[in-house]
Amino acid sequence: ILLPQFSTGISPHSLVDFNGISMTRVFTSNWENVQNFQARPDDILIATYAKAGTTWVSQILDLLYFGQTERQKTLPIHERVPFLEVYLPPNMSGTEQADNLPTSPRLIKTHLPYQLVPKSFWEQNCRVVYVARNAKDNMVSYYHFNRMSYGQPAPGDWNTFFQNFMEGKSMYEILWQEADLSKNSLHVLLYLADTEREIDKLCSFLGLSPSAEEKKMILGGTQFDNMRKNYMANYSTFPLMDFKISPFMRKGKVGDWKNHFTVAQNEEFDEDYKTKMTDPTLEFRTTI
Ligand code: A3P
Repeated sequence: ILLPQFSTGISPHSLVDFNGISMTRVFTSNWENVQNFQARPDDILIATYAKAGTTWVSQILDLLYFGQTERQKTLPIHERVPFLEVYLPPNMSGTEQADNLPTSPRLIKTHLPYQLVPKSFWEQNCRVVYVARNAKDNMVSYYHFNRMSYGQPAPGDWNTFFQNFMEGKSMYEILWQEADLSKNSLHVLLYLADTEREIDKLCSFLGLSPSAEEKKMILGGTQFDNMRKNYMANYSTFPLMDFKISPFMRKGKVGDWKNHFTVAQNEEFDEDYKTKMTDPTLEFRTTI
């Protein structure tokens, strides 16, 4: 396994306070280039809290814009949709990858909180697709991801992870609550809601009108079982993950939090959530 090679300083996996946000060096060491990144007007920024369904929507957008082409068959999703703030030397940084993307539009992914997104995205009035997932499942997914990904801080056991997460000692930590959701250039997509409806809404936001056949191809190509088997979408080509601990395409379900949260943890979470999430327009499903 190729671990990131940072020349000096603290471990790449330790959390550091970065502009008030908990991050690791994997996401902060290329900051100057991230901050100065030059967005283009037709760029589409895929913004999510990590593990909210980023890969799912990346695949939807890639199929919508570029169809089932050679690119789908030969380039892994993390090359088709670069991760803006990531830097795992000796690999190319996310900004460099985005700069080198030959496509138009460019699909670019970020987990940065709203206030840290490079300002050129706003200046260029780029369209932003934000994916939101119910926070309990998002947290469980993140726990398993931290177990298997070498780029993340080690989570400890579930109870330790839960406590740290509740205390804000977890990566990124902040959702896009401060984003102005009524902004014309921002569209919010709900993970595992009615996919066909979400795709229709996404298309009208993007001004696209795929044929019935194209829509069918997109629905099929982004189904969990199909993406799980798709080597160009399931991250099996990415070196810093141990699928023996937990696969990237883990369950893809709503409600797995019930297999992890204790009754007391659920109460603590609900209490905290009520004080922090005040947007009544988003309706998440925590069970099916
Ligand atoms: P689970 O760990 O709950 O299974 P991200 O892409 O933001 O890292 O999110 C990863 C989560 O999305 C994982 O959730 C993964 O299984 C799920 N996922 C990925 N592709 C999916 C798809 N096509 N349909 C449903 N869920 C998907």
